[in-house]
Amino acid sequence: MTFGRIEQHPILGAMQNRKSLSFRFDGNTYMAYESETIAAALLANGVRTLRVHEEKGTPRGIYCNIGHCFECRVTVNGVQGKRACLTLVEEGMNVESSVQLPSPLKKGGEHR
Ligand code: FES
Repeated sequence: MTFGRIEQHPILGAMQNRKSLSFRFDGNTYMAYESETIAAALLANGVRTLRVHEEKGTPRGIYCNIGHCFECRVTVNGVQGKRACLTLVEEGMNVESSVQLPSPLKKGGEHR
């Protein structure tokens, strides 16, 4: 499936002979091509939210896509803080988003 990918690039040519890989993100299985980053593969599969803000719980995704902002950090095979925009997909890789953390400003689930 090539949804979300450029199949015929005017300079790079046709996307062909690329090995497909499968990986998991939050328990769902997705397809990627070799040499794709996690961020690119998830975007091509229609996944835009890579994590949530630790305190506010608001969705976060690709921002700079060059490794500067850390907005795309995910957990890869149990290692936290991996940048999805710099990390290449590997066969069988397990990627997890983050969860909203309990706030020290909240007591009993409500703001003081
Ligand atoms: S999107 Fe900015 S570091 Fe990945």
